[in-house]
Amino acid sequence: MRTMMLRHAALLAIAAALTLSPVARAQPTGPDVNYDESRVGELPLPDPLVAWGTEVKDAATWRQRRRPEILELFRAQVYGRSPAPPAEMRFEVDAPVSALDGKATRREIRILFTERPGGPVMDLLLFVPNGVERPVPAFLGLNFQGNHTVHPDPGITLSSSWMRDGPGVVDHRATEATRGRAASRWPVETIVSRGYALATAYYGDIDPDFDDGFQNGVHPLFYREGQTRPDADEWGSIAAWAWGLSRALDYLETDNDVDADRIAVIGHSRLGKTALWAGAEDERFAMVVSNDSGEGGAALSRRWYGETVGRLNRVFPHWFCANYRQYSDDVEALPVDQHMLIALAAPRPVYVASALEDRWADPRGEFLAAKAAEPVYALFGLEGLGVEEWPPPDTPVGDVIGYHVRRGGHDLTAYDWGRYLDFADRHLGSE
Ligand code: GCU
Repeated sequence: MRTMMLRHAALLAIAAALTLSPVARAQPTGPDVNYDESRVGELPLPDPLVAWGTEVKDAATWRQRRRPEILELFRAQVYGRSPAPPAEMRFEVDAPVSALDGKATRREIRILFTERPGGPVMDLLLFVPNGVERPVPAFLGLNFQGNHTVHPDPGITLSSSWMRDGPGVVDHRATEATRGRAASRWPVETIVSRGYALATAYYGDIDPDFDDGFQNGVHPLFYREGQTRPDADEWGSIAAWAWGLSRALDYLETDNDVDADRIAVIGHSRLGKTALWAGAEDERFAMVVSNDSGEGGAALSRRWYGETVGRLNRVFPHWFCANYRQYSDDVEALPVDQHMLIALAAPRPVYVASALEDRWADPRGEFLAAKAAEPVYALFGLEGLGVEEWPPPDTPVGDVIGYHVRRGGHDLTAYDWGRYLDFADRHLGSE
């Protein structure tokens, strides 16, 4: 019976993972899944400000000693190490066209990671507002179903990459039926009207999201002679997607319409985990936004609530590095917790957002992680959340660490974007 229930719970988790429709996902249940706050446990968190027994008391020591140490722990034990950009990387930039009824300029850029024919490429879609002074600040985020799904604009190239089958996806390829399907998650008109550019790419261009032993995507480009999969401390898929975001930023640095010093990296769910890791690995990102990123993202791993490290490793064995599996049944042994990932953004602005019904992602655990990152911001004389308690729904808080818990389920909505744009106005200063 127990096995059956576990199996049922695992299937639910997989179903939730594979259903990428914007409607609220089912919250997995089962004997190993806890949603009861009284059973969460009180495992002490590792202290971001204690380096080998010595307290870190100033920003310089954080930067020179403690930050590199924590980054190294996340690399070796959680997401895996990523390679430097490939020397042969090139950009093929399409001619700009007018879009959104003349309110924006749209451009598509192909980022070729290798000179090898048929090698992986990433297609970046860029909307830049017209009628404002350039260069403009920008949001950069990966999408789940192809660039053509973020807006119904028929001029956006239909993705020809591998995609999970589902409505409008036939034999793992997108059809016209999916155009604009994810538009509710990408309010392009609003973003552009607020003076920001939007750059996005399909995450599967970098590494298709299934466990194939790392034979497709960008991983094999970096294998040593004879190597057939990443070593235990080398990158999984999340690190590869984050690496792809940095390659998109490499392009944006060459684009005169966009201010590469004012780019916010954003992501939802597994791509929220990815955005946090991209912001940690690449300090060129000026702001970091995690939307409903949950376990392995903004939520504290030491809280037994919703998804756990063990479940992540079992259901998505390709997301993290192999070393992370050591902690599946022993989360206390993890030398880090996710508040330290958020703290790696310091002193840059970081926004963590949760959704009240998204219990699988442990919304309160996301707030507590953001809260526990505050001492690092304090070293820089910066105020974090400015509140002690989990705020009521739909009430944004925080100065340099932003946070809200929205009413409703697991999704990236217009409400969330409104808060990110307000936050960006304060920190990236768009007119
Ligand atoms: C699953 C998974 C989460 C992840 C989410 C998503 O629910 O368990 O960790 O964030 O999929 O990316 O949609």
